Amino acid sequence: MQKTWITIALTGAMAMMAGACVKEAPISGKRLYSENCAACHGPKGQGDGPFAKDLIMPPADLTALSENNGGTFPRNYVISTMDGYARGEHFSGAMPEFGVKLAGSDVIMETGDGVVTPTPKALVALADYLESLQGT
Ligand code: HEC
Repeated sequence: MQKTWITIALTGAMAMMAGACVKEAPISGKRLYSENCAACHGPKGQGDGPFAKDLIMPPADLTALSENNGGTFPRNYVISTMDGYARGEHFSGAMPEFGVKLAGSDVIMETGDGVVTPTPKALVALADYLESLQGT
C-alpha cells in the first residue's frame, strides 16, 4: 500500500518537473536557422550547406541579400520567400515553404513597406538573424 503511494507521489513530482521544462524557450533566429536552413544555405548562410551539392538550383548566398538589393536588406521579400507566400516565378521547388511549419508560433505585427502585417514571430526572428549576416 505504502509503495503505491510513493509511486503516485513520485509520478506526480515527475509530471510537475516535466511541465516546468515544457515552458517555451525564447525564439532564437540563430537556432531556427541552424535547424531549418543551414543544411542547404550553409552554417554561415553562404550557400554551402551539405545538401547544396545535390540540388539542381544552388541555394542562395544569404549574406549577399542586401548587396543584391542596392544595399537595403529586403525584409519583406525574405519573409515572403521563407513563408512561401510570395515567390518569383523562377523559384525552384527545392526550398521548402516554412509558413505552415513555423506559423504555429505567436504572431507579431511587422511593418514593412508601410503595411502592417501579422507575421509569425519565428519568421521575424529568422529575418533578423539573416539581416545580421549581411556582408559577413
Ligand atoms: C532544401 C534546401 C533549402 C532549405 C532547407 C532552405 N532553402 Fe532557401 N533556398 C534554397 C534554394 C535552392 C534557393 C534558390 C531558389 C531559386 O532561386 O529558385 C533558396 C533561396 C532562398 C532565399 C532567396 C534568396 C535570394 O537571393 O533571392 C531566401 C531568402 C532563403 N532561401 C531563405 C531560407 C531560409 C531562411 C531557410 C530556413 C528557414 C531556407 N531558405 C531553407 C534551398 C533551401
